Amino acid sequence: MKVCVIGTGYVGLVTGTTFADLGNEVVCVDKIPEKIQMLNSGKMPIYEPGLEEMVKRNTEEGRLTFTEDLHQGVTGAKVVFIAVGTPPDETGATDLSFVEAAAKEIAAALEDYTIIVNKSTVPVGTGEFVRHVIEANRRRNVPFDVVSNPEFLKEGTAVKDSQNPERIVIGAPNQSVAMALLELYAPLEAPMLITDIASAEMIKYASNSFLATKISFINTIANICEKVGADVTQVAKGMGYDSRIGRDFLMAGLGYGGSCFPKDTLSLRHKAMECGECTDLFDAVIKTNETRVSRFLGRIEDRMVELKDKQIGILGLAFKPNTDDMREAKSVEFIKYLVGKGAKIKAYDPVATENCKKILPDIQYVRNAYETADGSDMLLIVTEWNEFKLLDFEKLRTLLKSPIIFDGRNIWTMDKPKRFGFEYYSIGR
Ligand code: UGA
Repeated sequence: MKVCVIGTGYVGLVTGTTFADLGNEVVCVDKIPEKIQMLNSGKMPIYEPGLEEMVKRNTEEGRLTFTEDLHQGVTGAKVVFIAVGTPPDETGATDLSFVEAAAKEIAAALEDYTIIVNKSTVPVGTGEFVRHVIEANRRRNVPFDVVSNPEFLKEGTAVKDSQNPERIVIGAPNQSVAMALLELYAPLEAPMLITDIASAEMIKYASNSFLATKISFINTIANICEKVGADVTQVAKGMGYDSRIGRDFLMAGLGYGGSCFPKDTLSLRHKAMECGECTDLFDAVIKTNETRVSRFLGRIEDRMVELKDKQIGILGLAFKPNTDDMREAKSVEFIKYLVGKGAKIKAYDPVATENCKKILPDIQYVRNAYETADGSDMLLIVTEWNEFKLLDFEKLRTLLKSPIIFDGRNIWTMDKPKRFGFEYYSIGR
């Protein structure tokens, strides 16, 4: 089947490559020429484990191509996926201008019956909106259908998630349209749910907001644990054995970042407001998340007393491990505050340094954790990369000016740094 995917971000590029790997002919389209040039020369515009090899294999075997020319991509495609960005505007509502622009261009390129699929995370009602835009911009009366097919992959494990999805959700206007899409997904042998379009759109927001709620919930429990002498990691473990609660997304820390949870919780709250419904739950989830960094900074200031001229070594810059994505990364909030207080920053991340330099060009970037510790007054762990978990504590202690670690992700048990003579501050313990 010929498939066109518009947008080569995490969702578009990984989904397109997965469909190619299943034997389809896939054209990925992007408006940014540099991205297409990179992809055509075998380089990845994003860091995602396993993606480069899979793109290489499928381009070499002729199933996967990249172009700036949307018309060429859409021509002959049976299914066209819209996987463009849907950032929030200043009110928290979703900015649909990229979706609208893509829909208009698709409309102008339609020649035969085509299924247009919203893969981007879009608010309820966007399927209808896209249908109107295409209807109004078609050159001839070419038949088409619009489907909602939300994506649930996570950055850092996107390839694995895309190849082994826990569910496929298809919101379609009728059964026969849904069947055409099912055919594309059938080789993945995942559970499939066919719904109306609005429900499929809502499933995506409800899922992301529920996970964000779990995180804000455990972070609120962590705050109380700090006051009463309990250990939130044990509490989360004890809760997680209950299959109704589940173990995942109960890791207390600095809160959620990235390109999805912050924007999707805002968007769902905005939708609730628009409908005149109560937003108390979403307000609390969002507010709890927004105070994670300032709370930890308060503890750092209490301990360090004066931040001016202190050197702070920061480990981890990306919004989470295994990605180079800096969107809504907690490191930025820490660094801006600390620099504002006159502290000097030495920072290290295994892959996100180049992206961080674009946001924070004036701090010092080093090549590994030990260089970060060298001469620093304290270490601050912001992202839980695996390579930080087995650091040599003896070496760290000799390099640091004072043996102080603030760990925002609870990467070690309480006793380990203490055994090596460190003052160790973490979350909810
Ligand atoms: C999230 C969802 O997990 C995906 O299912 C969804 O497809 C994606 O958004 C999307 O809408 O595109 P992602 O943002 O890549 O995926 O990353 P997650 O692994 O969900 O982590 C999000 C944030 O929550 C990170 O900042 C992470 O550090 C934080 N988190 C996660 C916690 O603080 N505690 C946890 O227990 C889990």
